[in-house]
Amino acid sequence: MRGLILSGGRGTRLRPLTFTNAKQLVPVANKPVLFYGIEALVAAGIMEIGIVVGDTREEIRSAVGDGSHWGCRITYIEQEAPLGLAHAVLISEDFLKGEPFVMYLGDNLIKNGITALVDEFRVRRPNAQILLAHVPNPSQFGVAELEGGRIVKLVEKPRHPKSDLALVGVYMFDPNIFPAVKAISPSWRGELEITDAIQHLVDQGLIVEPHVVDGWWKDMGKVEDLLEANRLVLETFEQRIEGSVDAESRIEGKVVIEKGAQVVASVIRGPAIIGMNAQISHSYVGPFSSIHNNVKITDSEIEHSIVLENAAIESINDRIESSLIGRNARISKLSLKPRAWRFNIGDNSEIGVH
Ligand code: TTP
Repeated sequence: MRGLILSGGRGTRLRPLTFTNAKQLVPVANKPVLFYGIEALVAAGIMEIGIVVGDTREEIRSAVGDGSHWGCRITYIEQEAPLGLAHAVLISEDFLKGEPFVMYLGDNLIKNGITALVDEFRVRRPNAQILLAHVPNPSQFGVAELEGGRIVKLVEKPRHPKSDLALVGVYMFDPNIFPAVKAISPSWRGELEITDAIQHLVDQGLIVEPHVVDGWWKDMGKVEDLLEANRLVLETFEQRIEGSVDAESRIEGKVVIEKGAQVVASVIRGPAIIGMNAQISHSYVGPFSSIHNNVKITDSEIEHSIVLENAAIESINDRIESSLIGRNARISKLSLKPRAWRFNIGDNSEIGVH
C-alpha cells in the first residue's frame, strides 16, 4: 500500500500566517502538523509516500526531505494549482502504480492514528473506506448520509446537512478511484471534489465502507482549530525538563522544557512546551501554550497560545490568551510618550484589545 499526503492548497483561512508559511508546517505542540501525518502513515507500515505540493513546495521539501528521518521514502508530486482533492489524486496516478493507497490531508490530526483503520482496509478490501466523525457544525465539512450502515450520499459543505457525520481527512482507495476522478466535473467553486468522486463510486455500485472514528480529529482550518489541536496534543504530554530552571521558578504539571531553554523567576503551568533556547524570565506561561524555539518572554503573562520561532514578548502584564503569534513578531510595552498603541502589522492580521 502507498500513501498520498496532500500539502498544496491555499490556506486562506489561516492568513496572515499562511502568507509566509505553509499551512501544513504550522507547529502543533512545536511540531509541524504534517509530521504527525507522516508518522501516522509510517506507523501503519506505509513506507512509500507521495506528497502533493503547490506554491509552498520549497518550504515543504526542505522541512521533510527524502523521508529518511522517518525511515520512509518521499516523492514530491507537483500540483500546478489547488484544483481540488480529487485533482490531487488524478495527478498522482503514476506514483500510486495501481496499488491501494491512503490519502491523508496534510493539515489533519487524528488522535488514535490510522493503523487499525488501514489494517481493517487491508483485510476487508472494500473499494474505498472513508472515515467519519460526529461534528457540531457539519455544514463546514463534507457530510455523509448513511442508510443501514451504508453510504448513500456525500455532500460537500451542505447548507442543510442531513447528518452530523463529517468526512475526516483520511481516505483509503483502490484503483477504481481513477476512473471516478476522471469522470467528474469541477464543482461551483472550480474544484474537482473528492466527495463527488466517492459519490461516483457509490453510484457505480462499488463498495465504500464508512468508519466512524473514536477519539478526536482536527483539521487546521482556522486559528481556533489550531489552538484546539495544540491543546489536545499537549494534554498527551508527560513532564520532561532538559533546559534550565532556576530556584525561583515553579514548574507545574505536564511541562516540556527543551534543551537550551532557560526559565528564570517564572511560573510554567502545564500542559505546555517551551522550545529549544527559548528564554522565559519573570513571566507566567499558562496551560495549553506552545512556545517555540528561541522565543523570548520577559515580564509577561500568556496562556492558551502558540508563539512561533524567534518571537519576543516583553512587559505585557495583562495576560495574553488564545493567540497565535508569528515568527519574529515583537510585542512590547513602550515607555515613549504619548502613551498609545503602536502597530506595525501585516495584511489580514487581527488584534483584540480590551
Ligand atoms: P483545504 O483545507 O480544503 O484547502 P486549503 O488548504 O486551500 O485551505 P483554505 O480553505 O483555508 O484556503 O485543503 C485540505 C488539505 O489538502 C490541505 O493540506 C491542502 C491540501 N490541498 C491540496 O494539496 N490540493 C488541493 O487542490 C486542495 C484544494 C487542497
